[in-house]
Amino acid sequence: MSTGIARNATTPATAAAYDVERVRRDFPALRQQVHGHPLIYLDNAATTQKPQAVMDALQRFYLEECSNIHRGVHYLSQQATEDYEATRSKARRFLNARQNREILFVRGTTEALNLVAHSFARPRLRSGDEVLITHMEHHSNIVPWQILCQETGARLRVAPINDAGELIVEEFEKLLGPRTRVVSLAYVSNALGTINPVRELVRMAHARNVPVVLDGAQAAPHLKVDVQELDCDFFTLSGHKMYAPTGIGVLYGKAELLEEMPPYQGGGDMIRSVTFEKTLYNELPFKFEAGTPNIAGTIGLGAAMDYLEELGRENIAAYEQELLDYGTRALSRVPGLRMIGTAREKAAVLSFDLPGVHPHDVGTILDREGIAVRTGHHCAQPVMDRFGVPATSRASLGVYNTREELDALAAGLRKVTEIFGR
Ligand code: ALA
Repeated sequence: MSTGIARNATTPATAAAYDVERVRRDFPALRQQVHGHPLIYLDNAATTQKPQAVMDALQRFYLEECSNIHRGVHYLSQQATEDYEATRSKARRFLNARQNREILFVRGTTEALNLVAHSFARPRLRSGDEVLITHMEHHSNIVPWQILCQETGARLRVAPINDAGELIVEEFEKLLGPRTRVVSLAYVSNALGTINPVRELVRMAHARNVPVVLDGAQAAPHLKVDVQELDCDFFTLSGHKMYAPTGIGVLYGKAELLEEMPPYQGGGDMIRSVTFEKTLYNELPFKFEAGTPNIAGTIGLGAAMDYLEELGRENIAAYEQELLDYGTRALSRVPGLRMIGTAREKAAVLSFDLPGVHPHDVGTILDREGIAVRTGHHCAQPVMDRFGVPATSRASLGVYNTREELDALAAGLRKVTEIFGR
């Protein structure tokens, strides 16, 4: 496969080693024009475009080996099972998990967090216990815990953030109390780009015997993740935010915790035997994969992981950091623009407000220039409340974005300010 890295992935990571033009050629969607302009796709935190290698993997599954897995002795089923399970090995390596059975395939981070809330946390929560999250969470890391708290009488505690959009670590630590039963937080904020000091936070929680769930949806596409080094108890990712198809994601969990947990859903594949009197559950990871899974999506996720590994994840992080710095400087020259989220440790997100201009107008005018950004609350309404805005405009970066695209974004925003007389 041709990828855009000039040197092999084991050489030291530098943005200079990265050939973005070659990377761009791997993404057919980037060749199109939108409203007469070349597409500038800056909505990668919502979902990413897909490289040809992922499309080829999907097509190969459907055209050459379409069949169900773990069920057939026939050739196609064995091929599909092999490819599906090969992705489990790729995901184990991608996250540096200890064992394949610690990797569960789910629909995405939302399903992963619901699974942990219901299967892991629910049996452990009593009235008066506490669940600790942070003020920068995505709705999918708030609502499942709220539902659980309503059902059990537990209390949802929220660690505050400062004006830069950084977690206030001392306050987080103070909120870790004798009744805290679980901590769940984003590694990287989708609305602000903040990278949380998760290693330190996990250590603080573990010192009090509190397990930690990391929402890694926005971390996995941008950072090299090592779950053993982080020592988190659970980690989630969404395939579609890292160049894989929609509807597939991973939940990593420490084997000893997954072993103790009851199944999340009942159905086929998660059983060892069924009678009307009693069902024996399958072993890990199958206990948590009821029903026919998203086989094609899983194989596509494997191809996306291969693709990112080939680019080199440290190279991607270095390139995107350089791009983020460039974009931050370019946007700082747009009159009146207020950046929302200025954390010292930040990944790939430029969220901003143009006072007096509604973000939907910003998004619509940029769209006419062929520039795709997301406008709205980004499924993080408490973050918007914290910064006193109903919504922001957000440019989120990926492996194929360029400095020239960020210059075009800044020019588009200057046009917005002119139209609105700011
Ligand atoms: N959570 C996704 C985003 O940040 C949809 O846009």
